[in-house]
Amino acid sequence: MQEQLLGGLQAAEFLDQYWQKKPLLVRQALPGFTGLLDRDAVLRLAQREDVESRLVAGAGTDWEMERGPLAKSLLRRARSTPWTVLVQGLNLILPQADALMRRFAFIPYARLDDVMVSYATPGGGVGPHFDSYDVFLIQGMGRRRWQISDDEDLTLIDGLPLRILSNFQPRQEWVLEPGDMLYLPPRYAHNGIAEGECMTYSIGFRAPSAQELGRAFLDYLHERLQIPGAYADPGLRQQDSPAEIADAMVDQVSGMVNAIRWQSADIEQFLGCYLTEPKPQVFFDPPRRPMSGPRFAAAARQGVQLDARSQLLWRAGRLYMNGESHFPAAGDIAWFIALADLRRSAGPPDSFSPAAQALLYEWYCAGYLHPETP
Ligand code: SIN
Ligand code: CO
Repeated sequence: MQEQLLGGLQAAEFLDQYWQKKPLLVRQALPGFTGLLDRDAVLRLAQREDVESRLVAGAGTDWEMERGPLAKSLLRRARSTPWTVLVQGLNLILPQADALMRRFAFIPYARLDDVMVSYATPGGGVGPHFDSYDVFLIQGMGRRRWQISDDEDLTLIDGLPLRILSNFQPRQEWVLEPGDMLYLPPRYAHNGIAEGECMTYSIGFRAPSAQELGRAFLDYLHERLQIPGAYADPGLRQQDSPAEIADAMVDQVSGMVNAIRWQSADIEQFLGCYLTEPKPQVFFDPPRRPMSGPRFAAAARQGVQLDARSQLLWRAGRLYMNGESHFPAAGDIAWFIALADLRRSAGPPDSFSPAAQALLYEWYCAGYLHPETP
């Protein structure tokens, strides 16, 4: 199945030859795929407060962009230029979109970001641009012409509300039909133009900048830092200028700051929490009338399923669920790993410890997972 998705390539061949290196067009990567939503459903999502969306209209050097939630009147407004509506994070709302994203499990979940859907009127698109991350563009309903270019000139037109390349020269182009897919590495120039009304699903990836990771790590340390001692100066001498910050003070503080240490375990735990932290617009729906612990345990025996919004990763025996770290007993971890990989699992084994059962119940009460519905 994966070979079809990658045009006859094994995942290892794709990773070796194409991933972050060069584009790949796959005709009928997903045979029979015509999309997950119709136009009205996409436009309804774009009106929701808890969904990230954008409206882009324009052509040439004249573009307008509006961030969601988008008012119905805005979506109904007659326009002289083609327009497109983009909805991010479809995988958080629609289990089928989460399942589509997990088809790409040959890339670690820690690198997967989200599924975006775009609806475009004839001729619509977001203009020639590049993205800073890899993307798989899957054609849903309708047809879209994709033009791409390996030009290194990535100069943008100044003063526009969106990033449009000023010197885009298409080198290759194809019209994608439903079920066709185009992979593009980061910073590869592209332009998608709807041939009629069309919808495209993009699988996007996470590639945080060093700056963002560094800041987030310092925030993480900030919450956990325990440095003993306090400033002291029993050898204090009178200064000529009492307003001067003396060398001795700078040296002492420098010693304190240089004493801040972290281990690779801190980095691992930071990363686990950082990568699974829910996005700001994500809120879980805990069950309104949760089952009791024993009733839940009986229901979970039929299997459990992660909520589409849940992020569960693991490393070195530790689980990271939606920004929180847990350390289950060694005998329980294999079941949790299978749940993390497959996002659903048959019920826990009889050997499951009471602590693991309690953790599962806690996740159920938080809305992070649900008993499998028969
Ligand atoms: C789109 O779906 O219209 C835009 C996707 C992209 O260019 O990354
Ligand atoms: Co793009």
